[in-house]
Amino acid sequence: MSNTDRALSFYTDATFDREAWFRITAVDYHRLLEAVDFSALLDCGRPTTDVLDVGCGTGKFPALLQPRLSPRPQVSLSLLDPNPYCLEQTAARLRSPLRAAAQLAVTAETLDPSLLGAASLDVIWAIQSFYYIPPTALPSVIARLVGLLRPGGVLLVFLASEDSSYRRISDVGRLLYPEQPATPYTYAEPVAAAMAGCASGTFSRSSFSVEHVVRSDGDLEAYLSQNLLVPTPLSAWRAHPGAAAWLAGHRRGGEYVFPQVLQVLSLRADPQ
Ligand SMILES: C[S@@+](CC[C@H](N)C(=O)[O-])C[C@H]1O[C@@H](n2cnc3c(N)ncnc32)[C@H](O)[C@@H]1O
Repeated sequence: MSNTDRALSFYTDATFDREAWFRITAVDYHRLLEAVDFSALLDCGRPTTDVLDVGCGTGKFPALLQPRLSPRPQVSLSLLDPNPYCLEQTAARLRSPLRAAAQLAVTAETLDPSLLGAASLDVIWAIQSFYYIPPTALPSVIARLVGLLRPGGVLLVFLASEDSSYRRISDVGRLLYPEQPATPYTYAEPVAAAMAGCASGTFSRSSFSVEHVVRSDGDLEAYLSQNLLVPTPLSAWRAHPGAAAWLAGHRRGGEYVFPQVLQVLSLRADPQ
């Protein structure tokens, strides 16, 4: 099963524990909002800035961004996610100056650029969503997204590094499902290489570290399940000797702590 198929079946009200997930991971978004001046990024000198959110999920990022923005410019936000549940959730959370434009129930790999139009966007962001794009598809996905940017427009990808706990959780979690080999997620390093190799823009990157602190068994189960995109009882982790030892190594007092390294990758399309 591809990781996109896993995301399609996992993101539902029944399986995705939004509260628990963002209790633990909201720090990623707060740090991103400190690291990047989104007001400046979105100020393109026109009354409306055109943006595409690739892999919009349930709209956490725009909801945290919105209070930091001034009423002008308006931001016309097209949403792309293969999961219609995610499109609905994000569209329902948008508040001025963000307003929903196109809603595209496709993957980044299958996006038909004519749906948006060449050189029609000022900014494209992909927040924690490139994990699902196979490495072999990265050069064509990036070239296609850059082709949607106006001259000087920016593609911004936010993703964990290979040495982060996100990667370790999925590696260890696979021990619990030996009969179902999963495709590995894609982390920041190959995405950075593909963006740096794009001939029609200027690439830059920065990174920062955060800790995910988990304070209850219920949150731990939700956190690990979301990482795997498979609802998995905590008892299964604890019953597997390798997984249990790995989990125990992350215990600090009454909490579990998972270090993460997150990268901000940016590609500015060439000016005309
Ligand atoms: C980890 S969530 C992140 C969502 C949101 N950007 C956020 O930060 O809260 C990743 C999202 O990417 C979507 N996704 C899965 N496969 C994708 C693909 N091939 N192309 C684009 N988005 C994809 C999933 O449906 C999911 O909503």
